[in-house]
Amino acid sequence: MSLPNPVITIDGPAASGKSSIARLVAQRLGYTYVNTGNMYRAVTWAVLQAGVDPHDADAVRTAAAANVVESPVVDGRTQVCVGGHALSDVELNSDPVNRAVSLVARVPEVRERLVADQRALGAIGPLVMEGRDIGSVVFPGSPHKIYVDASEEVRASRRSAQGHADQVAERDRIDKQRKASPLVIPEGATVIDNSHITLDQAVDQVIAALKLA
Ligand code: CDP
Ligand code: CDP
Repeated sequence: MSLPNPVITIDGPAASGKSSIARLVAQRLGYTYVNTGNMYRAVTWAVLQAGVDPHDADAVRTAAAANVVESPVVDGRTQVCVGGHALSDVELNSDPVNRAVSLVARVPEVRERLVADQRALGAIGPLVMEGRDIGSVVFPGSPHKIYVDASEEVRASRRSAQGHADQVAERDRIDKQRKASPLVIPEGATVIDNSHITLDQAVDQVIAALKLA
């Protein structure tokens, strides 16, 4: 399957630096930045608003199906909206959403819908899309695949420096062990460990690894 526009895929575990790196790579190249974690977070926010227990897969499936996530492009990046409400960073990164998001994201029907939405975004123009399964499942045909990593200690300390109480190791465990599209290093991806380098250095390494025309 050939893609209408280039898609740079960036995957990796929680708090590895994916969002920061993807945003800066997109800015440098003039591509649109898509944070797919925010799409799973938006569905999770809607599921929690509906009062659903995130461990109850059937109830999650029903509540998720009742809420469409829209992704309008604003200032070079996609926002996430549910029922016309543009979700703020505070809503997307709240403690309850952090605790529930990996439980919601392991439900296959939730993934099927969001993967279809993510593929549809490929039509809007060149993208940097970041998440867990972008190079392995969403755009496996892309020749531009990056896997961003950092040690567990570095990731936990970066997340707490951001002021979030986030069970990074627990989310990684669920994300790697789930049956539907687990977190893996995609075939053909360049692995960049940014435990001990700056964001700018990581961005330089990503751009150097990409074989863009
Ligand atoms: O930014 P951080 O690494 O903490 O997480 P995120 O990218 O916002 O993703 C939140 C959660 O959504 C992940 O822990 C996964 O459970 C899920 N996710 C996913 O399953 N597939 C994606 N493509 C992106 C996120
Ligand atoms: O998107 P993801 O959860 O993978 O990570 P992030 O939100 O981009 O990065 C987590 C934090 O680590 C942010 O505050 C980044 O500025 C910081 N970071 C850093 O200090 N140095 C790096 N090489 C990468 C990220």
